[in-house]
Amino acid sequence: MSNPTGSQPAGAAPGGTSSVEALRSLAAAELTAARDRTTLLTTAVDDADLVKQHSPLMSPLVWDLAHVANQEELWLLREVGGREPMHPEIDPLYDAFEHPRAARPTLPLLTPAQARRYGHEVRGRTLDVIERTALPAGALNGFGASLTEAGAGFAFGMIAQHEAQHDETMLATHQLRSGPAVLSAPPPPPAPADAAALPAEVLVPGGPFTMGTSAEPWALDNERPAHAVDVPGFWLDTTPVTSAAYAEFIAAGGYDDPRLWSADGWAHRQRAGLTAPLFWNWDGEWLRTSFGVTEPVVPDEPVLHVCWYEADAYARWARRRLPTEAEWEKAARWDPATGRSRRYPWGDAPWTPDRANLGQRHLRPALAGSYPGGAAPCGARQLVGDVWEWTSSDFLPYPGFTAWPYKEYSEVFFGPEYKVLRGGAFGVSPVACRGTFRNWDYPVRRQIFAGFRTARDAR
Ligand code: AVJ
Ligand code: FE
Repeated sequence: MSNPTGSQPAGAAPGGTSSVEALRSLAAAELTAARDRTTLLTTAVDDADLVKQHSPLMSPLVWDLAHVANQEELWLLREVGGREPMHPEIDPLYDAFEHPRAARPTLPLLTPAQARRYGHEVRGRTLDVIERTALPAGALNGFGASLTEAGAGFAFGMIAQHEAQHDETMLATHQLRSGPAVLSAPPPPPAPADAAALPAEVLVPGGPFTMGTSAEPWALDNERPAHAVDVPGFWLDTTPVTSAAYAEFIAAGGYDDPRLWSADGWAHRQRAGLTAPLFWNWDGEWLRTSFGVTEPVVPDEPVLHVCWYEADAYARWARRRLPTEAEWEKAARWDPATGRSRRYPWGDAPWTPDRANLGQRHLRPALAGSYPGGAAPCGARQLVGDVWEWTSSDFLPYPGFTAWPYKEYSEVFFGPEYKVLRGGAFGVSPVACRGTFRNWDYPVRRQIFAGFRTARDAR
């Protein structure tokens, strides 16, 4: 498997030549880690499988393979490096806005061999651009600066994160493909040592906190800028909702009681015939299929592959609600001892494997209550890693938002049709995960690695 460095640009020494050198090595290391994972996910299956569409929700894997190379060429070779286009005629094929995922298999895509070769050629030149770009000392925090100067440092991080995000997308494609397992079974995540002693919920006291960031070097545009938000006190589940708890909701008739669902949610539940999480099947007990392996649902694992409507209905059944995005971030980052917001629940130090289940190391969530080393100041566990967590919030820009360097990353998606997910799942690379990171999707989507936790007002 890949070996994500887990290091972050903020870990480098501030100012001076050494930090520029550290930025170059970090950029190369993170791009290499992402490519190692891409290679694993696209060599685990044969060429026929790479060009096949496993679900209308997903691209063929060979599309992702060439798309990450094309984005790298566009941003790092052309914009940062000032190089000429290598194969301009293929650009439209790999522009995510030109062709919806369902239409991609009919395009004259590069073959697997051509896509690999293109990716390899681009990457060789990228490593050259990383070495040759004259990075000023301020490149460590170059958000908004010229892409040929200080902004280049951001572009390297942006493209490493882009490929890492597609590694998660490709993992979701693997989960949707039928047939026997092809990803070798990784070790299970660490078992929880003290979960039985954990309270069911933790209190996050009311008051303002700093949401978003202006300082995190590789934070994407939608995470910016830092701004104060007053969040009234609330109680939050200590861990994500488990499969056992979710099975109780099913057994209690949760899928058949319209009072528990929003109007849109109930209409969707009826139309789509929802009765259980995606990949669950009843055979005298609940079974679930994960990367080609069918096994009994693990009661203490966080529930996975539920849509926003299901999470919302469960919360109502539990006489609770989904947390808002601001509540989630305050629980994950706010440190009452200092009044500051941390980079991660555990503090400002980079991710390490004992802090959160990230990086496709385990290919399943850890049991609820695991990762004491990743606990937030409020006592909540597993806010980062394991499963993405649906929030009640629409995906909207923060006050003072500026789209950069391209509008198509976030700006075109802002609006009430998307709900925000936070925290990252086991399939997320540490380079694309932090306390401020924002993900979004339609409230009907279940193929993503999403679960949730619930909250209630403190009164
Ligand atoms: C942030 C996961 C919603 O997959 O649509 C990849 C990430 N953007 N290429 C997506 C992304 C462009 C994005 N999400
Ligand atoms: Fe993309």
